[in-house]
Amino acid sequence: MMFPQYRPRRMRANSSLRSLISETVLDINKLIYPMFVAPGKGVKDQIKSMPGIHRFSIDTAINEIKEAYDLGIKSVILFGIPERKDNQGSEAWSSKGIVQNAIIQIKKELPDMIVITDVCLCEYTSHGHCGILKGDSIQNDITLEMLAKTALSHARSGADIVAPSDMMDGRVGAIREALDEEDFDHIPIMAYSVKYASAFYGPFRDAADCAPKKGDRSSYQMDPANKREALREATLDLEEGADILMVKPAMPYLDIIHLLKQEFTLPVAAYQVSGEYAMIKAAALNGWIDEERVVKESLLSIFRAGADMILTYFAKEIAGKVRK
Ligand code: PBG
Repeated sequence: MMFPQYRPRRMRANSSLRSLISETVLDINKLIYPMFVAPGKGVKDQIKSMPGIHRFSIDTAINEIKEAYDLGIKSVILFGIPERKDNQGSEAWSSKGIVQNAIIQIKKELPDMIVITDVCLCEYTSHGHCGILKGDSIQNDITLEMLAKTALSHARSGADIVAPSDMMDGRVGAIREALDEEDFDHIPIMAYSVKYASAFYGPFRDAADCAPKKGDRSSYQMDPANKREALREATLDLEEGADILMVKPAMPYLDIIHLLKQEFTLPVAAYQVSGEYAMIKAAALNGWIDEERVVKESLLSIFRAGADMILTYFAKEIAGKVRK
């Protein structure tokens, strides 16, 4: 192909031509809306570092989910903010816990909404770590039992998909086994397979009040410098029974999303995390960027890299705009 015989601009002349050759579609059916549920009634507290995102009580969460559903969003992922935290994070697997209750009520009102649950202990432990602490170290194998109990309690309450985000070794296998033993073999596992120890989670930790009180998550989450390790993590999760492989965060790790899409046949999810959301919002609120265009471009880039689905705090907002 040589100029002047070939001129790429011929196919960019107007928007109809451009859409004919567009290779990636921003499909709102493939967006998952992350939501924070907290105790109480009538609660809708805006999260300071995430303008436009709130902590909801179950009643207000249901209204929000109905609105999202009407705009075309088909799945949500729930994060619970419990009434009380303890050393073990026991509210995580309580049958009367905040997430368990939320699932029951959401599925009652909106049976077609896919309810995914984040399975982790950090929102429930007083120390803020994703596993059981002994001294300063996180105990891997004991934590697996707690995670399996938590996933099982979500499934019993009616969750459609469970999503372990703790990064303990062996958790996908432990959860798969626990689910299968109780005839939940139809419940898929969306594994946070490649989850980096990222500074982009800052605003989420405000929202869920789950920053580690001491130390950080580098002994379990991945080093941002590593790429081949992503293949090892994803391989383990695949072999332990994962149904979806997730990469998190998204935009700083587009190469990893692409890599997983090339190397595996499982669907790949990408999480556009709180810090990615906050950066775009902050710049938009200052009038420095065009929010709608930047959001669309960022989501397109994640799809183009190979994501089959995206978890994004922009889901509801952008669904309204894409539809118009
Ligand atoms: C829990 C969890 C975190 C996020 C999702 N699940 C926080 C963390 O690992 O510190 C972050 C999501 C976001 O930043 O939007 N382990």
